[in-house]
Amino acid sequence: MTTVIKNGTIVTADRTYKADVLIENGKITDIGENLSGDETLDATGCFVMPGGIDPHTHLEMPFMGTYSTDDFESGTRAALSGGTTMVVDFALPSPDQSLLDALSMWHNKSTRAHTDYSFHMAITWWGEQVFDEMETVVKEKGINTFKHFMAYKGALMVNDDEMYSSFKRCAELGALPLVHAENGDVVAEMQAKLLAEGNDGPEGHAYSRPPEVEGEATNRAIMIADMAGVPLYVVHTSCEQSHEAIRRARQKGMRVYGEPLIQHLTLDESEYFDKDWDHSARRVMSPPFRNKAHQDSLWAGLQAGSLQVVATDHCAFTTEQKRFGVGDFTKIPNGTGGLEDRMPMLWTHGVATGRLTMNEFVAVTSTNSAKILNTYPKKGAILVGSDADIVVWDPKLEKTISAKTQQSAIDYNVFEGKHVKGLPRFTLTRGHVAVTEGAMTSREGHGEFVARAPFTAVNTALSQWKEVTAPRKIERSGIPASGV
Ligand code: URP
Ligand code: ZN
Ligand code: ZN
Repeated sequence: MTTVIKNGTIVTADRTYKADVLIENGKITDIGENLSGDETLDATGCFVMPGGIDPHTHLEMPFMGTYSTDDFESGTRAALSGGTTMVVDFALPSPDQSLLDALSMWHNKSTRAHTDYSFHMAITWWGEQVFDEMETVVKEKGINTFKHFMAYKGALMVNDDEMYSSFKRCAELGALPLVHAENGDVVAEMQAKLLAEGNDGPEGHAYSRPPEVEGEATNRAIMIADMAGVPLYVVHTSCEQSHEAIRRARQKGMRVYGEPLIQHLTLDESEYFDKDWDHSARRVMSPPFRNKAHQDSLWAGLQAGSLQVVATDHCAFTTEQKRFGVGDFTKIPNGTGGLEDRMPMLWTHGVATGRLTMNEFVAVTSTNSAKILNTYPKKGAILVGSDADIVVWDPKLEKTISAKTQQSAIDYNVFEGKHVKGLPRFTLTRGHVAVTEGAMTSREGHGEFVARAPFTAVNTALSQWKEVTAPRKIERSGIPASGV
């Protein structure tokens, strides 16, 4: 069966033009005028764009004594509803667990996915086994990205020596390291001090993670990556201090990527000072929401190209789960949702306000992720041969975001009450029409794992590994005798 999308305007990261799109067997097979197919989707007045890619999600993540409530079923269903057709989640080995075991666990979790998905592998401990298995992960398992948590001391955090070893291994294997950049030692100290002084409410979470802890860690990770001779991807860049480090590194010619979240772009720190404990706790995530000056910095970064992608870090806990932290903010599970709202919120606050062009919108919601993670043009493109992961975007459709009507399984939405204009008329995942103006026809289990090959100098223009200067041994004569 063939499907044709007719009468729309194709918008990609680099072009805007009128054409029809023909789809067969899940792929785009033709782009041109007056195409016909067995099924016709009318895109009059709409923009036909690559489906969104969220490069950062945590579905059914084991974390802080519980599991994030949105799993691959509800999470990817929510994604489709908002125009996102691929997510990249994180396989998280527990201490001493084999990377390959952890990967099997994540493959088991993802069998119910409605969208295609891929995985980053987290480095949560270090040893010979990890060193060896990284090669298998890259060469046999289709994963070319490794995540390092510089925070969550005593849990996921790795130290600098472990990070340096892992970064060097990434350089050898053609893999890209990712960092959660916050100084976990300083955060732990500040948390203990705040609690000792009686500051146990959710606002303590924001006080314990000021922009400096993020700026310091971003700078450190960049320097360590430079010494290891490997590019770097900084997840959830939330503040000017971190953005400034990324900007500076890029000006020096380093391949450093920064990923703001839709939450940090559109919600601010005042959320933590709400009189309602639940309201504030529901918004506890790391890094925390920041003030307007930091938001302006992130928008400027997207406009200038010093920040490349907009993600969600979707890690959704119910109010009941958040209440584990009543009386001690350090026990509030960290994470917020966003998968369903990322694209409508970014369109409304980015494109409709004139901050971003439509082409930039496509770049930061889809194409740049596909390129940086090395799955372009299978994903992130409207090209003959690409997967038919497509969103037919209607700039006139509008709604007010509400937990009552969302796909996500949790009982609230951090964007509750926000009005968005610009929503999918249709969302297609590998040719299957999964959403029609909010009505879901997605299929549980339709999603497939997307294997991503290692980076080489030729297979991606965005990533480049550099030579690290080898030490030069100096042959000397007349060495003075040691000692007194
Ligand atoms: O608070 C957050 N971001 N939770 C998810 C885990 C992480 O740090 O990305
Ligand atoms: Zn993180
Ligand atoms: Zn995350």
